[in-house]
Amino acid sequence: MSMTDAYRSAEPNSDSSSTTPKRLATSIRKLQKHYVLKSETVKALRGVSFDVPEGDYVAIMGPSGSGKSTLLNLLGCLDKPTKGSLMLGDDDIASMTDDQLADIRSQRIGFVFQSYNLIQQLSVVENIQVPLYYQGNIGPKERARSIALAERVGLGERLDHRPSQLSGGQQQRVAIARSLVNDPYFVLADEPTGNLDSVTTEEILTIFDELNQEGRTIILVTHEDFVADRAKRVVRLKDGKLHRDDVNAPADRERAREMQRKAVEELLKEGDR
Ligand SMILES: Nc1ncnc2c1ncn2[C@@H]1O[C@H](COP(=O)(O)OP(=O)(O)O)[C@@H](O)[C@H]1O
Ligand SMILES: [Mg+2]
Repeated sequence: MSMTDAYRSAEPNSDSSSTTPKRLATSIRKLQKHYVLKSETVKALRGVSFDVPEGDYVAIMGPSGSGKSTLLNLLGCLDKPTKGSLMLGDDDIASMTDDQLADIRSQRIGFVFQSYNLIQQLSVVENIQVPLYYQGNIGPKERARSIALAERVGLGERLDHRPSQLSGGQQQRVAIARSLVNDPYFVLADEPTGNLDSVTTEEILTIFDELNQEGRTIILVTHEDFVADRAKRVVRLKDGKLHRDDVNAPADRERAREMQRKAVEELLKEGDR
């Protein structure tokens, strides 16, 4: 495949006669978020526009303070836009009441944090089920789904462990499984590998690769080029504005995966863990 073809087939918005246009996981238009403080107003987002088709894998990058977490929090319905439009599927987030936002958050959003944010008193399966509590009773079907997700992220043998009995990488796997339990529009992850060593980071990135291949839409914030290189697309923010929006060619993504796998193999051979 030539680089041009590679680029074209990776282009998320590309349309050809043989494929119907993809549905959008989210559509962001002229999005603004201002934080009003006593002495000043901070314009964290100053009019950001882009679409994320279902099945995309987007890395959001940018200097500290550029608005990455603000954008992720808006996508996660943790906060409301000041101005502009934010569509999640067919839901118009900007015009919703706080109660409606809370419903969307519990029903259709999956969030993965740098610090895992698990509940220490709950087991692996119970932590994965947490988003379902907000939707009412949990029966055998929900428990089976949570167990399947625990198995999906490689924790089938640790269903009854508490977070304190797990490594950082295992805790982050629980968080990923939890993020999937309500069949979200997309998985949102804010620096998901920020606390993890290289070997564990590779394990987590491999899970994201696999989930995306299964059709999950992933939007993650990262500081690391080697994490962003694995995504299909890199959106860069600067001063609350969209600075760049680049596609990673499939061949380049594959090369990044191979390089990181080899580096991890070397580390493991050295017993450097
Ligand atoms: N809750 C808040 N109240 C006031 N200002 C905030 C709040 N959250 C973020 N900001 C400000 O908004 C800007 C963007 O912050 P943030 O979205 O956290 O950036 P990033 O994640 O890229 O580092 C910064 O100037 C930050 O200080
Ligand atoms: Mg941040």
